[in-house]
Amino acid sequence: MKFFVDTADVAEIKELAETGLLDGVTTNPTLISKTGRPFKEVLTEICATVDGPISAEVAATDYDGMLAEAKVLLGIAKNIVIKAPMTWDGLRACRALSNDGHKVNVTLCFSANQALLAAKAGATFVSPFIGRLDDIGADGVELIREIRTIYDNFDHLKTEILAASIRSPVNVKEVAMAGADVATIPPEVLKGLVKHPLTDIGLQRFLADWQKTGQKIT
Ligand code: E4P
Repeated sequence: MKFFVDTADVAEIKELAETGLLDGVTTNPTLISKTGRPFKEVLTEICATVDGPISAEVAATDYDGMLAEAKVLLGIAKNIVIKAPMTWDGLRACRALSNDGHKVNVTLCFSANQALLAAKAGATFVSPFIGRLDDIGADGVELIREIRTIYDNFDHLKTEILAASIRSPVNVKEVAMAGADVATIPPEVLKGLVKHPLTDIGLQRFLADWQKTGQKIT
């Protein structure tokens, strides 16, 4: 499974990229707005930091506007993936961009039928928002399972399931078990994946015992 980080904070991205565990980045208008910086500057820096798919979202809601914005975003760097919303215009834009050889991430997916539409429209990624479904009392992880089943039923559907709106390390495990191809994870959750109290206790014991030997490895 691939790990993307869900942020537009370049410092965080740089720190996580150094682990070698980052396969891509997703941004959205909210995340760009949090930086308080010009979007082109931010996206250029992110694309230079991570050598993988970087999702940049259109802000237009009509087909022509989306294509015009996609052209600008695609001009920023080779690894830009256009993020388009799950609307008829978004799906039309997805089909047109995909026919032209560009990668598209269809975002704001909340149902299996929407995911089916994204795949039919030639999306490279579809982004089911699991946390926002959980927020309203629905089952986000169950949606990942449904989409996995549908995509696996039809060989011609090549879209990758990009589990989004992840809120906790448990969510990461759950979407991995449910068959997501990618999880896009907020930085603090990604950092939390390594934590376990028994790891810390175990390491302390090993270090203490090693010190008793009085030896050095280098
Ligand atoms: C997906 O690409 C979105 O950026 C993101 O995962 C949304 O998450 P949120 O529901 O925490 O805003």
